[in-house]
Amino acid sequence: MAPDKYEKVSALARRRGFFWPSYEIYGGVSGFINWGPLGSIMKRKIEDKFRDIFLRRLGLYEIETPIISPESVFKASGHLESFREPMVECSRCRRKFRADHLLQELAGLPSQETEKMDLKEIGEALKRHGIKCPECGGELTNPQYFLTMFKTNIGPYSDAIGYGRPEAAQSVFVEFRRLYEQVRERLPTGFAVIGHALRNEISPRQGPIRLREFTIIDLEFFIDPEDPECPHLGMVEDESLNLVLAERRLNGSEEPVKLSVKEALDKGYIMMEWQAFFMALAKRFLIELGVPEDKQRFIEKLPWERAHYSVQGFDQEVYLDRWGWVEVSGFNYRTDFDLKGHMRESGADMRVFKLKKKVDVRRERVIKPVIAEIGKTFREEAPKVLDLISKADPKEAEEQIKRQGYFMAGEYRILPEHVKFEEREIVERGRRFIPHVIEPSFGSDRLAYVALEYAYTVKDGRVILKLPRDIAPIQLAVLPLVQKDGLPEKARELHGILIDEGFMVEYDESGFIGRRYARFDEIGVPLCITVDYQTLKDDTVTIRDRDSWRQVRAEINALTTILRDYFNFKRDFEDLGVPVEEN
Ligand code: GLY
Repeated sequence: MAPDKYEKVSALARRRGFFWPSYEIYGGVSGFINWGPLGSIMKRKIEDKFRDIFLRRLGLYEIETPIISPESVFKASGHLESFREPMVECSRCRRKFRADHLLQELAGLPSQETEKMDLKEIGEALKRHGIKCPECGGELTNPQYFLTMFKTNIGPYSDAIGYGRPEAAQSVFVEFRRLYEQVRERLPTGFAVIGHALRNEISPRQGPIRLREFTIIDLEFFIDPEDPECPHLGMVEDESLNLVLAERRLNGSEEPVKLSVKEALDKGYIMMEWQAFFMALAKRFLIELGVPEDKQRFIEKLPWERAHYSVQGFDQEVYLDRWGWVEVSGFNYRTDFDLKGHMRESGADMRVFKLKKKVDVRRERVIKPVIAEIGKTFREEAPKVLDLISKADPKEAEEQIKRQGYFMAGEYRILPEHVKFEEREIVERGRRFIPHVIEPSFGSDRLAYVALEYAYTVKDGRVILKLPRDIAPIQLAVLPLVQKDGLPEKARELHGILIDEGFMVEYDESGFIGRRYARFDEIGVPLCITVDYQTLKDDTVTIRDRDSWRQVRAEINALTTILRDYFNFKRDFEDLGVPVEEN
């Protein structure tokens, strides 16, 4: 069978240093990959693009936090209870598999059906569809849940349990109080973490698409739920989104509807403006990584598919040759679920105080205890009685005293001489509340793979990696036409100048020029600069475009400026110089 695109991209990635499976000399361990010399640069550039679009332009910041967290963090977040997957075991070879994935892959059941099933239903469905072990054909038994967090001990103490974080979000929530102070207590505000996360997947078999260790990009964006408008909406309201809506999915249709951000909000399909805003930015982000609009969609998660913390969630999916629609990011409205959980578990007050625009003044009845009388009557019990009186409802207590001459504070009878009732003015200057969270979250490894797959092109039987110019790991190659007559010296000099100017440049003088162009096309170098005999006469060089193979001639003196413009998208290839006539 002819290799599919995943196989072709993976082969190129391994050969040229983008990515490959880890621990190959020990037979490999699935779910772990290395990003090589070129892949690491490209992946970092993609993360930088996220930083530019989602952080720098919105005035938000990134933080760096630990990968290991104590158990209490995941007790509070609900992960200890919910971060689990259904698993079955082969009674013959003892291999273990994700049961829902087997039902999807081997029985063709849609994920929206398998995700709803409990363990008993999963066991029955496996039997009903006659699914056997995909490795040895043995019977599949013992359906059970498997906690997909990596567990460890912190230090030498067996009771100091820690977990590798399955998402980076919790580290933002845990630090929220301090972060909020650092941004001078303003809402909305957000903080991102770009770092490794760990998920102990049961049987990952999809290369960079399903990893046990991966880079997550979590942006936790905090808002006041009573003031949820997004002031930047105008920037994106006409942006169209391909939405696969939950209400349609429930009727059996996965057909997307194309709606503008404004329409989707007006019709109530997307709950929160900020969520819609981030989805529109994400669409543009993916377009800039090379994925056209019609190969992207946002699928609304059904209630049983949503993460435990989410009240509305959309996954951004990209169409991939081998797997079809694959999630690359998620947009969840997490409400105050996480901060509330940490408040409960740690006792730390996660509420914020916000001044009201208009101060509220109202009058209220209050009970004032007469301390001397309470001391006389209740003696050593007096503190307890005072506490109970402070908890009583003043209106009810006053009414009871009027009606029956006393009121009960717990088991104590409070008489008129023990308390006074007064009118008090209450001035409300603000309100205390737990902020709500909207979360865009990307998988950086998946983004990098997606960019590679969409860049992979074949022209005249040769591979060209048409990576967008700002994520190409090597920007320029400087090549002397031949290895003699002073051309290498001139080319090396130019290479040095471009390096000093901050470009990522390679120098290569070995082999025929056509061969060298092909090598650089294959790793996605957008421009090759060639030093030829004319260079020695008039200090000009040719610049060759990777995608069209066209060439222009430009002066060396102007190169730094025009190339900088080119990589900042302020100039197209055609504007770099005078076209070179093709022979
Ligand atoms: N924080 C996003 C996720 O867990 O997928």
